[in-house]
Amino acid sequence: MKGWATVAAALLGMTGQAVAGPCTPGDIVVKFATVVSATDNPKGIAARIFADRVNHEMAGKLCVIVYPDSTLYDDDSVLQAMLQGDVQLAAPSLSKFEAFTKVFRLFDLPFLFPDLQAVDAFETSPAGARMKSSMAGRGLAGLEFWHSGMKQFSANRPLLHPGDAKGLKFRIQPSEVIAASIRALEAHPLSIAFSDVPDALATGVVDGQENTWSNIYAQKLYAVQDGITETNHGVLEYLVVTSADFLRSLPPDIRSQFLDILHQVTVERNAAVTAVEARSRAAIIAAGGRIRTLTPAERAEWVAAMQPVWGQFRSDVGPDNLAAAEAAARQTGTVQTGADAPGG
Ligand code: SIN
Repeated sequence: MKGWATVAAALLGMTGQAVAGPCTPGDIVVKFATVVSATDNPKGIAARIFADRVNHEMAGKLCVIVYPDSTLYDDDSVLQAMLQGDVQLAAPSLSKFEAFTKVFRLFDLPFLFPDLQAVDAFETSPAGARMKSSMAGRGLAGLEFWHSGMKQFSANRPLLHPGDAKGLKFRIQPSEVIAASIRALEAHPLSIAFSDVPDALATGVVDGQENTWSNIYAQKLYAVQDGITETNHGVLEYLVVTSADFLRSLPPDIRSQFLDILHQVTVERNAAVTAVEARSRAAIIAAGGRIRTLTPAERAEWVAAMQPVWGQFRSDVGPDNLAAAEAAARQTGTVQTGADAPGG
């Protein structure tokens, strides 16, 4: 069985020389660019397992080379590169599709989804499934949603009440909804590339950030923050995406096998993400990071401060999509005040 591509093999591919690693001459080569590490992160793990399976089961037909840690493209440039045919697969967070569609703004609405089960229920609903093709007119084909986890806030001072965030600068992804959510806390949002977050926090360019347990652990953000507050205020989700041209160019039997493997890996890995996130949370504590939990009353303060943001984006995300997401949130039996609050 061929192993998955190493960074060395990936770099060899970038130079345009004979592709090493899992590929043999004549294979259709699929370059898969990610910004995360290949080991500690739900996306990195899923990408590795997907590549391993394709390279084993489709040997001699098609091969996947994974480029972790922004070694090929970062999320700012990857979609344009994909449209030019320079990379075939990526899984940016849904916050990074602003230039292509506004419907994914739904996923950034604060306190909409209480947990990953609710996200799953929405994504597999007709409304969620339709969202994957929202960029067809722009040449991008959404293939599968991948979970990363629930997001937590951290800062260089304790965050227990929304007022504690006042005046602080927070690193955010390039998302209008997240920017509005930070402003709702009377704080300042600053969009910064994922790979630059550790330095930005360490040097005081920003005071705080929001991300999943796995990203906070893998980037060692806990080491440059006073602590992490378990807010679960949002969700970080990915869309595995390719170009419509590339997908069309695949012979039907190859396309179908490729998409089948991707779907199987998606179902398997999405079901495992809660456990991966719990391991990262435990690892942060073991490494000396401080985690603060909120009382129900403190949590309600954060919901009240951020949830009014929904009103600004209702028409972008589509009222029907929002209704379907709220229904999914109720289905899991762990409805939180964000989904039920007046005006929501
Ligand atoms: C990722 O997990 O792909 C990065 C998310 C971020 O930019 O915070």
